[in-house]
Amino acid sequence: MEIYLDYNATTPIDKEVLNEMLPYMHTYFGTPSSFYSIGRKSKQTIIRAREQLAGLIGANPEEIIFTSGGTESNNHAIRGAALANKVKGKHIVTSSVEHPSVTEVCRYLDSEGFDITYLPVDNKGVVHAEEVAAAIRPDTILISIMHANNEVGAIQPIGEVSEIAKKNNVLFHTDASQSAGKINTNVAALGVDLLTLAGHKLYAPKGIGALYIREGVKIENLMYGGGQESGIRPGTENVIQIAGLGKACEIAGRDLNRNRQLMSDMRIRLLEGLTGKHGNRVILNTDLDNSLPNTLSLAFENVEAHTLTSVIGHEVFISTGSACHADITEISPVLEAMNIQHMTAASTVRISTGKNTTKEEVDRAVDIISDAVNKLSM
Ligand SMILES: Cc1ncc(COP(=O)(O)O)c(C=O)c1O
Repeated sequence: MEIYLDYNATTPIDKEVLNEMLPYMHTYFGTPSSFYSIGRKSKQTIIRAREQLAGLIGANPEEIIFTSGGTESNNHAIRGAALANKVKGKHIVTSSVEHPSVTEVCRYLDSEGFDITYLPVDNKGVVHAEEVAAAIRPDTILISIMHANNEVGAIQPIGEVSEIAKKNNVLFHTDASQSAGKINTNVAALGVDLLTLAGHKLYAPKGIGALYIREGVKIENLMYGGGQESGIRPGTENVIQIAGLGKACEIAGRDLNRNRQLMSDMRIRLLEGLTGKHGNRVILNTDLDNSLPNTLSLAFENVEAHTLTSVIGHEVFISTGSACHADITEISPVLEAMNIQHMTAASTVRISTGKNTTKEEVDRAVDIISDAVNKLSM
């Protein structure tokens, strides 16, 4: 039995999502801008998907732009907001635990004359709102702080930061790639101007995502072309995947409470199983009281994480650090920013449960991981 416990890296396509997508691969292949029936069908599908997505995050459908994924949405939001507001100022505030699709855009903007403040986090991976307030300057134009962290699951105080952003008339972007479908991502409750979604984290395919742009907010385009997506993100629409993302968002909203509970139960079962066998040799990086319900970042004392994951890698699939750059063996910048000791960071694995994770999978994974930990500790 192969046990996948790396749902923060990616998720499989939901069967309901796949069924929604299939007709657009063959029967309804027309472009949405054509006027014959198979084109109109594509157009209706995009309209519906936009509504389904808007439903998940409490937005108006017109505020949603489909993109190629979380990376593009983050690039578009940050670069677009920076370029559209550069006459007002060139200062951007972000955190030191963002995904590379945020930090690398910031680095690029830095090279273009923008000034970036990377806020520290505490040892639970959380940015403090007071630090955000203290970082704001007259030339600050944008705050970009993720909703929840991909490696340790820490949830940021987005509501509090949004108050600060509003008071100072600064745009606020959040990367909700990891949080959507796991916790509430209502844009009104979060108070954000821009929000990133990544399809493959919530049982839609890879290579599709969305950007929420609050009505009235103007950002510069990344690309120029035909007038698709209100001219904001031109290019013939990826109807197949848009149909899938729409369905995935509908399901994510519909099943949110059930999935949250199940993922959380499975995470606790995993943790209890592992601590039951290894006691205080298990060092927990994730703050269980303020984190995604499915994420466990933990270390087994003196067991190197890459060795552990490769020993169990034919049966149990978990990751060390962030899966997006898993082949790099350096200590993750997130754990470094949390001030986690080097030895602990090198021993840290990320286990993330999914909406279909079963007790049997968890119990078996606990046994396999524990056997490997025992062997590697000898
Ligand atoms: C927090 C976060 N943001 C953005 C991304 C990038 O999303 P995508 O893979 O769709 O480009 C990821 C993917 O790992 C992520 O975890």
